[in-house]
Amino acid sequence: MGIFSFISEFSGFSNNAVAIDLGTVNTLIAIHGAGVVLREATAVAVAGENQDIVLAVGNEAVEMSGRTPTGLVLRYPFREGVIADYRLAEYMIHDFFKRAIHTAHGHSFYTSPRVLLCVPDCVTDVERRAVCEAVRRAGARDVLVAEEIMAACVGSGLPYDEPTGSMVVDIGGGTVDTAVIALGGIVVSKSMRSGGNNIDRAIIGFVRRKYNIIIGNRSAEQIKCSLSDDDKKQKNIEVCGLNPENGLPKKISVPKTEIEESIRPSIDEIVTLVHDVLSKTPPELAGDIIKNGITLCGGGAYLYGLATAITISTGIETVISPKPFECVALGALEMLNNMRHGKTATMPGMVEQEA
Ligand SMILES: Nc1ncnc2c1ncn2[C@@H]1O[C@H](COP(=O)(O)OP(=O)(O)OP(=O)(O)O)[C@@H](O)[C@H]1O
Ligand SMILES: [Mg+2]
Repeated sequence: MGIFSFISEFSGFSNNAVAIDLGTVNTLIAIHGAGVVLREATAVAVAGENQDIVLAVGNEAVEMSGRTPTGLVLRYPFREGVIADYRLAEYMIHDFFKRAIHTAHGHSFYTSPRVLLCVPDCVTDVERRAVCEAVRRAGARDVLVAEEIMAACVGSGLPYDEPTGSMVVDIGGGTVDTAVIALGGIVVSKSMRSGGNNIDRAIIGFVRRKYNIIIGNRSAEQIKCSLSDDDKKQKNIEVCGLNPENGLPKKISVPKTEIEESIRPSIDEIVTLVHDVLSKTPPELAGDIIKNGITLCGGGAYLYGLATAITISTGIETVISPKPFECVALGALEMLNNMRHGKTATMPGMVEQEA
């Protein structure tokens, strides 16, 4: 089907059109008239000798992995925005489709949805095809692809289709995307395959080196998120893990400032990315960015010290999007609505992915 027949069919039959933000850590699905109907961890809990028995999908899988002792392995089918496990990705997406359609329409009658899929800028053509194929095999009828950063801009309520320039930075679990957007198109962009998961790894490495204690990914993520808690009186963070010398549980208290120091290189990396994009921004849009500021989105927008570091380093006010987690899915939904109303010219970032 060509893109125009896709669009015209969309106009007449949009109830079954879904926007998906298939992130490395979280998946969101939005449906016209219902908004965001699914927000689940991009995870599958498996068991068995060949890890071929699926026990749970999404948030339930993550919760289960903390409680169930034997044989369960928590798998994340996406890594840095691309498919790491094709079979599990397909299974998981199919499950998410069914749940999303049930939430939106109140029945489990499953009809192949039409999908607008958001992918990060750093994904290659081959990798994008693989994701689209998995989405199609999971039951989607047609798959359109939009740049994740464009959807983030739209969903953050920025003036994406006006002559004024907007700058967005999306800090996800596996990727960081940043772009300057004007007149409905991406003017300059850059991304890197590194995000919140790498910051967790930096914390794991730090506590192992300095305190000789082994902690898991989930503990590291909790430590990272607790930095942005408002509790200013709390000077230390309690860290629980295993003592590698005797294999016994160990609890220590680590000064917050030390954890902040351990994530500093990751913050610097993001600041450098922002600088790169700013340095390539046409001078006529630079004034707009200074005036409108920089908008952060994705879960990493909350990373302690990030907004301040960007503001100090660039001299440009940096704020967090009103809906940092949902803006990609909501933006993609708005793009679908624009298609319904025939405003397709404002969305040049979209391409139809051939099978
Ligand atoms: N308060 C917080 N402080 C720091 N990081 C946070 C906070 N809350 C969530 N995060 C991080 O945000 C990341 C998840 O964000 P998001 O859901 O936007 O990623 P994603 O869309 O799944 O990934 P990607 O876009 O890279 O594929 C995780 O790494 C999580 O640890
Ligand atoms: Mg994302």
